[in-house]
Amino acid sequence: MEVKTSLLDNMIGVGDMVLLEPLSEDSFIENLRNRFDHNEIYTYIGSVVISMNPYRALPIYTPEKVEEYRNRNFYELSPHIYALADEAYRSLRDQDKDQCILITGESGAGKTEASKLVMSYVAAVCGKGQEVNKVKEQLLQSNPVLEAFGNAKTVRNDNSSRFGKYMDIEFDFKGDPLGGVISNYLLEKSRVVKQPRGERNFHVFYQLLSGASDDTLKKLKLDRDFSKYNYLSLDSAAVIGLDDAANFRTVKNAMQIVGFMEDEVQSVLQLVAAVLKLGNIEFKPESRSNGTDESRIKDKNDLKEMCELLGIEQSVLERAFSYRTVEAKQEKVSTTLNVAQAYYARDALAKNLYSRLFSWLVTRINESIKAQTKARHKVMGVLDIYGFEIFEDNSFEQFIINYCNEKLQQIFIELTLREEQEEYVREGIEWTNIEYFNNAIICDLIENHQNGILAMLDEECLRPGTVTDETFLDKLNTICAGHKHFESRQSKNSKFLTDHSLPHNCFRIQHYAGKVLYRAEGFVDKNNDLLYRDMSQAMYKAKHSLIKQLFPEGNPAKVNLKRPPTAGFQFKASVGTLMRNLQTKNPNYIRCIKPNDKKASHIFTDTLVCHQVRYLGLMENVRVRRAGYAFRQAYEPCLERYKMLCKRTWPHWKGPAREGVEVLMADLQVPADDFSYGRSKIFIRNPRTLFSLEERRRQCLQDLATLIQKIYRGHKCRSHFLLLKKSQIVVSAWYRRYAQEKKYQKIKSATTVVQSYTRGWQARKLLRELKYQKRCEEAVTTIAAFWHGTQVRRDYRKFFRANAGKKIYDFTIQRIMQKYFLGLKSTSPPMSPVDKSWPARPYRFLDGVHAELRKIFHHWRCKKYRSQFTEEKKAVYKEKLEASEIFKDKKALYPSSVSQPFKGDYLEITKNPKYQKLNSSVDAKVLLADVVNKINRANGKGTARIFLLTKKGVVLADQKTGQVKASVPLPDLASVSVSTQNDGFFALKLKEGSASAIKGDFLLSSERLIEIITKLHLTGATAADSERLNIDISDEFLVQFNHDKVCVKFIQGAARNGNGVSCKRKNNRLLEVSVPTTA
Ligand SMILES: Nc1ncnc2c1ncn2[C@@H]1O[C@H](COP(=O)(O)OP(=O)(O)OP(=O)(O)O)[C@@H](O)[C@H]1O
Ligand SMILES: [Mg+2]
Repeated sequence: MEVKTSLLDNMIGVGDMVLLEPLSEDSFIENLRNRFDHNEIYTYIGSVVISMNPYRALPIYTPEKVEEYRNRNFYELSPHIYALADEAYRSLRDQDKDQCILITGESGAGKTEASKLVMSYVAAVCGKGQEVNKVKEQLLQSNPVLEAFGNAKTVRNDNSSRFGKYMDIEFDFKGDPLGGVISNYLLEKSRVVKQPRGERNFHVFYQLLSGASDDTLKKLKLDRDFSKYNYLSLDSAAVIGLDDAANFRTVKNAMQIVGFMEDEVQSVLQLVAAVLKLGNIEFKPESRSNGTDESRIKDKNDLKEMCELLGIEQSVLERAFSYRTVEAKQEKVSTTLNVAQAYYARDALAKNLYSRLFSWLVTRINESIKAQTKARHKVMGVLDIYGFEIFEDNSFEQFIINYCNEKLQQIFIELTLREEQEEYVREGIEWTNIEYFNNAIICDLIENHQNGILAMLDEECLRPGTVTDETFLDKLNTICAGHKHFESRQSKNSKFLTDHSLPHNCFRIQHYAGKVLYRAEGFVDKNNDLLYRDMSQAMYKAKHSLIKQLFPEGNPAKVNLKRPPTAGFQFKASVGTLMRNLQTKNPNYIRCIKPNDKKASHIFTDTLVCHQVRYLGLMENVRVRRAGYAFRQAYEPCLERYKMLCKRTWPHWKGPAREGVEVLMADLQVPADDFSYGRSKIFIRNPRTLFSLEERRRQCLQDLATLIQKIYRGHKCRSHFLLLKKSQIVVSAWYRRYAQEKKYQKIKSATTVVQSYTRGWQARKLLRELKYQKRCEEAVTTIAAFWHGTQVRRDYRKFFRANAGKKIYDFTIQRIMQKYFLGLKSTSPPMSPVDKSWPARPYRFLDGVHAELRKIFHHWRCKKYRSQFTEEKKAVYKEKLEASEIFKDKKALYPSSVSQPFKGDYLEITKNPKYQKLNSSVDAKVLLADVVNKINRANGKGTARIFLLTKKGVVLADQKTGQVKASVPLPDLASVSVSTQNDGFFALKLKEGSASAIKGDFLLSSERLIEIITKLHLTGATAADSERLNIDISDEFLVQFNHDKVCVKFIQGAARNGNGVSCKRKNNRLLEVSVPTTA
């Protein structure tokens, strides 16, 4: 449920000055002070917000606060600037009424801050979206840019706006911002060339020098040191709490967001630099022959640099500083300038340059932020303009500013009264005439076309002949003397002739907010705002496009001999436009007040505040507001607030709210004069009536609080009692349950005991019976078993006798054999084929099997052994086997050959180059090559011969020459004969009739006889076309020598001469070979 609150809740002092009772200046200020001390810086006068500058950050601008004030009625919460902003925004959005927010107050009172708060509140509550956010951001970011160029530190405010600003924010029908338009008023350009003590020039100069990079400064031909520039005051260059360097970055960033191009930013900075350079140009007098003084530039370096920055020819500008051309009709007259005039021209140029740059910035920002659509806009204007200024020394600027404030006051009165009147009409309340001071008369004094002060000033400025401030004052004295609000020492009005507070060179105006004394000095000059034409023409000649743009009057093609409009005239015109603009809008006022002169928090200076209250016309404001009815409130909230004061309306009123309020008022016996019933609101004439209602409400609230307390306490006690009662029932129920449970458990355990006894007895009885039965069954079973046993044994005996013997025998044999084989497995001998061991047989009856198994095992392991042989090894063994088969136990030489490997080619005939020829003459592979002895048939002596065995045959060759002596193909060999002895003799016998047999058989001797014969035998066997070669082993055989057959006989003899074997031809028929007996 939404809680209805009111401004009247928890008020400190009164939140609305209209309710101040009694109303006096003292009570007004006391109320302000009281609220200020309690951090309540906002107070209302009706719908006007008074804002006191707290000079410190208060936690009242948080997003939560924005939410709190969003969509709430103005008087629903304690006074706040957000309430005003919300009210304005909602009437703009919902009721389609254009709004303006007028913020006034003296310098440092917080106008600019207030305008920013209003803008940020509206930005926070209005629509969101990418496009809308961009517009918001651009609008908000225009502030830092304008503040850098238009604000300066003054003695009154470290961030004082030196221009008036009016900004129209445009919204679409949904209330989303579309864009804005900014208007600026009267920049205080004199500050560019001179600043009062303790004040600074515009922020941008300091920001540029402290914040720009070295590179930028170099490009702009500037030095970081402030003291190098005449236009910058030094005594307060650095301001506490103001970070110029950081602000420079903020401003550059803001310019970028607003939409300035990079080259535009550079141009602007160049102009700022040019102004600084301009200030450094100094002049010295130079006497001419005609006796006049002429000015000369002291040091041309700054001039040169400035010209370079702006792209102006130095000579052109130099001339502009030295001469002045006056054109009248067709005539041109050139006069030289003296030093004072040159300085005047310089400063005028600086001021114009800067103020025009400022106006250009505003135009450029407007270009960026203007609404993009042409659809109808709703507008909210925010006016942050200088407040009334009353200094000791007031000049033209104060005059203009105060004129502006007069106009604002007038519009305020007009609009407030009009609104008041409109509300009365709307509500059907009789209109009572309100007495108030109308300042139209003062406005007329200033702005009247014929005899207004401004008109006269213009007239004076445009008049030919010598014009001075004195002539102007004289004119005023003659024309305005009779005016009620004009005072002057020299006026005919005798009243002031002796008034020493009014000097002769001054005039005084009684403004609505007090009297202000103006010094006439400077009025004419400032109004003229004269810039020599030569200067504008020089500027126009610049190559810098922005400069050219700023001085369009310098264009020689558009020479205008008419004087430009005066400053006063321009200001009057722009104020006129502003007023017309404001009149079409619904006004909302924020009146800013400065609590002290020290820029300090917590200090409230009565006199200063009083002064401001006066000149802001706040008392006037309250009086106007109270002239009719001091307080008004819609019927619903009024009934809601006071319904407890009447039994008939409390707690609920069923009928219409108005009737409820009528019943309420009647019941409370409020005198009929004190209030009126409007259509939707009740109007209360006197704050006292309201306060008495409030007092009664407070009382009633206390009674109600007591009642609520009483009922609440009763309710609490009853609830407590009921709780106790309920608890008691619960406790007793639980106890009963517990007791019953215990009893039940006892009975249950007793029952269980009895039950268990009974069951035990029954069980034992049963057990006895079962045991008896079991014993009977066991006895029967035993008897039956014995009987069956007897029968079975009897049958078995019969059966056993018939079969069992054979079965036992078979089984036993089987067991023995099994055991035997398993035993063999574990005792089997090694796998070497030469191993002779074999386990002993276990039973004699296994003799045959045992021997057979031994053989099988041996064969098997030999096979295993053989299977490991390579092909070469197999061939070797084959030969060895063959040799064994041929010679074993037949020839005594054999055993010695067993251990010798058969190499075959002992002469390495293929490799040895000596036998190359021999090798090539043999056409088959050589199987054996060795040196043998060929036994001479005649004497039995041996001759060395090479013996070659190939697959095809046998070749004998000379050992030395390798020449083939004989070649015997294998088929021609009939047999080979050898002895049984230990000798190497062998005879190759040829087949009779073969080609080789012509010379007869060969008797040869070799140590490797066994190998030769074996290989010969094997080769002969493998040759496809030959049968196996016969080998005779006997100690006597015949050899065919030519045509004779000779018997070779081997006999055993004693060893002689180391070589044991000797061969001798005994006779034609016998060749005896003696072989030594082997030991
Ligand atoms: N609501 C506020 N909360 C905190 N500080 C504030 C508030 N309003 C103003 N100030 C402080 O007061 C200083 C002056 O305020 P501001 O610049 O708004 O004055 P002004 O009325 O615009 O003055 P001028 O006429 O010289 O421009 C601010 O810089 C800020 O320090
Ligand atoms: Mg300001």
